[in-house]
Amino acid sequence: MRLILLGAPASGKGTQAAVLCEKLGVPKISTGDMLRAALKEGTPLGKEAAKFMEAGQLVPDSVVIGLVEERLKLADAQRGFILDGFPRTVAQAEALDDLLKRLGTGLDFIVQLDVPRELLMERATLRRTDKRTGQIYHLKYSPPPPDAELEHRADDQEATVTKRLDAYDAQTAALLPHYEKLGVLRRVDGVGSPQEVTARMLSQIAG
Ligand code: AP5
Repeated sequence: MRLILLGAPASGKGTQAAVLCEKLGVPKISTGDMLRAALKEGTPLGKEAAKFMEAGQLVPDSVVIGLVEERLKLADAQRGFILDGFPRTVAQAEALDDLLKRLGTGLDFIVQLDVPRELLMERATLRRTDKRTGQIYHLKYSPPPPDAELEHRADDQEATVTKRLDAYDAQTAALLPHYEKLGVLRRVDGVGSPQEVTARMLSQIAG
């Protein structure tokens, strides 16, 4: 299964990707996680990316395309993958099409998680992540256990979330017609419990 999860910031891509990659037996490839890991390691790429991430802007295409190219060539991605947060621009989508063609493969589905903008701010600002396990929690909808070591993402402050939502509308929503034309786009209602959303996604990609 070669799947892309599309959706606005905090629409639930990471939550769903974690469940789906277990169920489908393929790796989750999240450009956001890769960039945050590079930042934690203090690499030059991580430091460069941080300037954009903290400002709520997209990291330049050349940086993320290179990261994804390297990742998709690794052995575990040969049996499939779930891409979370990539592509996000038309240039990234075209680079991915080219890369998959060169690798002799293609995409099975692009799943778009639809969540109204008014819910996204609350989902982002009350999100917390366990820094030991990477598990995603929400202070209201998915409360963490008492022993979790919680992190609050720097880009989950209200002002930065607004900029990220605007970047999504301006740059990423344009991908929907691209994938609609290819006949691989499936739209899924992302409102409801995470389990309900997973069930909807599975029924879309099975049928
Ligand atoms: P990235 O990490 O990809 O962030 P994002 O796309 O903004 O998405 P999020 O991680 O914020 O949200 P999500 O959809 O995964 O939601 P989650 O499951 O956590 O990117 C961060 C930054 O990196 C970008 O701004 C950019 O700078 C850079 N970047 C990354 N990729 C890039 C690229 N390709 N090109 C250029 N730049 C790039 O859920 C959110 C919250 O809601 C959680 O608290 C969760 O518990 C809760 N929740 C989830 N589902 C439900 C539900 N059904 N009901 C109630 N609550 C729910």
